[in-house]
Amino acid sequence: MQNLAVAYLKKVFDRKESINSMNSADVEKIVKQVISQMQGTGSAPAPTGAKTVPATARAAVLTKLEHYDIKEFPIPALGDDDILVKVEGCGVCGTDAHEFKRDPFGLIPVVLGHEGTGEIVAMGKNVKKDSAGKPLGIGDKVVTSMIFKDNPDITMYDMNKQNVGGADVYGLIPDDDIHLNGWFADYIVVRGGSSIFNVSDLDLDSRILIEPAAVLIHAVERAKTTGILRFNSRVAVQGCGPIGLLCIAVLRTMGIENIVAIDGEDKRLQFAKEMGAENSVNFKNYKGVEALTEGVKDAFGGYLADFAFQCTGSPIAHANIYKFIRSGGGLCELGFFINGGDATINPHFDICAKEITTVGSWVYTLRDYATTFDFLKRAKAIGLPLNKLITHRFPLDKINEAHETNLSMQGLKIAIINE
Ligand SMILES: NC(=O)c1ccc[n+]([C@@H]2O[C@H](COP(=O)([O-])OP(=O)(O)OC[C@H]3O[C@@H](n4cnc5c(N)ncnc54)[C@H](O)[C@@H]3O)[C@@H](O)[C@H]2O)c1
Ligand SMILES: [Zn+2]
Repeated sequence: MQNLAVAYLKKVFDRKESINSMNSADVEKIVKQVISQMQGTGSAPAPTGAKTVPATARAAVLTKLEHYDIKEFPIPALGDDDILVKVEGCGVCGTDAHEFKRDPFGLIPVVLGHEGTGEIVAMGKNVKKDSAGKPLGIGDKVVTSMIFKDNPDITMYDMNKQNVGGADVYGLIPDDDIHLNGWFADYIVVRGGSSIFNVSDLDLDSRILIEPAAVLIHAVERAKTTGILRFNSRVAVQGCGPIGLLCIAVLRTMGIENIVAIDGEDKRLQFAKEMGAENSVNFKNYKGVEALTEGVKDAFGGYLADFAFQCTGSPIAHANIYKFIRSGGGLCELGFFINGGDATINPHFDICAKEITTVGSWVYTLRDYATTFDFLKRAKAIGLPLNKLITHRFPLDKINEAHETNLSMQGLKIAIINE
């Protein structure tokens, strides 16, 4: 039977070489799939116009601290407004790391993963367009954003500046009867009323970076409200993790060139330059904030920064950053997605006397989400190596390993990529 099925596969898919190079586990898996398809088992009847949909799907459920179990759930019947998406990949976010370690949002058991993307394989009859008005169809590549359960009137073009606070997000929804609520899975059920975007014109890596990049589009929009950020501004970006690096890429893509990156890791600072920073400062080479401030000044050719983005979760880094900014300059603090403790600053020297304009930034709005798609295209067009941000890729069944790699800080963005 196995030989028969392999022969059948070779004939149907004409993939002689790739099949010959597969290991026996791969062959066995494909054989099982083919046999079940030949016998007509294992697949739910496909809705009209839809692709073949299996009866069940795997999802990685965080069942206890620091442990995911891969569970199999039935794929439920879709309502008229629902969409079934076959997941292609999903980034591991700092929020997932917090959930994995401590479950601060009390979500366990939960299917996490909110930086995901995939292909529409089935949809209800009422679904015609995405949240930006673009047509949606089977085969389109999509991402989800927020679900405004309590305020369904909020739309993408609503200028009330409401950010994701108060909205639900797939990948951070407690388990329910549907189970397929997060992107660390084979399939996700996107329910009517959710925001969803057709991003078929972006490659997989760019689509995985949409969610974190939207954080920076929002931060730069917030920074622009100060009126201080200009094309020729000297901009300091403190912290060169994925958030700081994306910050540099957004600034560079919008035409700001005089950027100094600050971090303690030379490898990250090198990457900051690839992302568009003109110069970099390793804070570990300086003793005390006065010396570090001189270092930042030198990096700008003898000037302090006109504007600074704070992209670390360190209260000390928050306190330091005021020193790097000139009188009349501006600051966008976005490094504290969650509470990281108190920072000590001197309100007279750091804010009043220098007349610093400060804005906070937290996640994004739906409108920022749509802006992000264009940013990703432009960044690619000017040759910024955004795809290099994804340093590690794991299959779904290695999700525990993926999270451990993330926690070990070996890479930048870790992603789960489905076969
Ligand atoms: N505003 C938001 O909505 C939002 C969204 C996502 C993440 N965040 C926050 O952004 C922060 C950065 O996220 P990330 O994924 O890039 O994290 P990360 O931990 O990968 O990067 C932080 C970087 O800061 C550097 N750093 C630490 N202390 C420093 C100091 N004193 N001076 C200079 N650099 C220092 C580290 O070496 C590291 O490279 C996190 O704290 C996260 O909570 C905010
Ligand atoms: Zn995220």
